[in-house]
Amino acid sequence: MASPRDSTQVIPVINNKGGVGKTTTAINLAAGLSRSGARVLLVDLDSQGSASLALGVPRAEQHPSSADALFGEAPTEAAIRQLDGPGFDLMPGSIELADTDVRLAQVQRREQRLSAVLRPLRDEYDVILMDCPPSTSLLAVNAVIAADAFLIPLLPSYLGLEGIVSLGEVISKARDSLGYVAPVLGILLTLVDYDKEGTEQIIAQVRDHYGDKVFDTEISPDVDLEDAPGYKQTIFEFDETSRGARQYAQLTEEVIERLRERERRKNGSSPSAAGDTAESAEPAPHGTTHSNGAPDAPEAVCATRASASQ
Ligand SMILES: Nc1ncnc2c1ncn2[C@@H]1O[C@H](COP(=O)(O)OP(=O)(O)OP(=O)(O)O)[C@@H](O)[C@H]1O
Ligand SMILES: [Mg+2]
Repeated sequence: MASPRDSTQVIPVINNKGGVGKTTTAINLAAGLSRSGARVLLVDLDSQGSASLALGVPRAEQHPSSADALFGEAPTEAAIRQLDGPGFDLMPGSIELADTDVRLAQVQRREQRLSAVLRPLRDEYDVILMDCPPSTSLLAVNAVIAADAFLIPLLPSYLGLEGIVSLGEVISKARDSLGYVAPVLGILLTLVDYDKEGTEQIIAQVRDHYGDKVFDTEISPDVDLEDAPGYKQTIFEFDETSRGARQYAQLTEEVIERLRERERRKNGSSPSAAGDTAESAEPAPHGTTHSNGAPDAPEAVCATRASASQ
């Protein structure tokens, strides 16, 4: 496979909740896609710079970073590093990303800065993945606006489900600014531990509610996935035979198939429907989104909320 599709897809890995596997997924999906022959850029949008650290770019070497590109303090190209081991390119994050709301406060079209920064890169990459911070900040809104589709890691727990609901807030802000919102590429169940009580029921509910938006692949807890960043390696470099490597390889295949399907649908549509606006308005499967594009809540969340407020 030369590339998953003919035109670039910008895909934020996003969820407002912390610790749900966004960074782990962004890194290992980037690696999986690049192993499949795609030209991949990973943009680290987290002020913690976790993805950058995990890929061997220490804090002292994180500049020029995505923050510098976003604030217009460095040319976008200058912020990109070629990573030999993993096989994809990285735009590191840095601590200045924490100031995005303040730094962009006076900037015109501030919600669309990231989209403008990434535009010239669309010729150079097949997929641009973004590792998003766990927040509803302007940075997250920028990521949503720059997106062609989202990937949402989801922890199968009550608080995990709350995370997907609060993501709706960010998506609504983006929609207010832009007039439309990109579709969900897929929801990825992460850290799935069937030994934990309640996991099976929550997953059944999530699958019932979000339907085929949920990837078949589920990511299990795996010590190799936890350890690989310490060795500055993706899971495929660290241990290609590990469970984590097999699951992220399976996710990669699903992502490629979904991107191909989007491409087929786009090419099959009328010329006037080929633009981003029309594409983003593709009908959402049952139960996937509100009319404003925001993911809605499975019954479990609604029910627990209702009982908590009584
Ligand atoms: N499948 C897994 N098995 C074992 N450990 C995992 C797995 N996925 C993630 N982890 C570990 O869980 C922690 C949180 O994961 P990660 O950093 O990917 O989440 P995140 O959503 O990016 O967090 P944050 O919101 O803080 O950026 C990390 O220590 C990571 O190594
Ligand atoms: Mg992270």
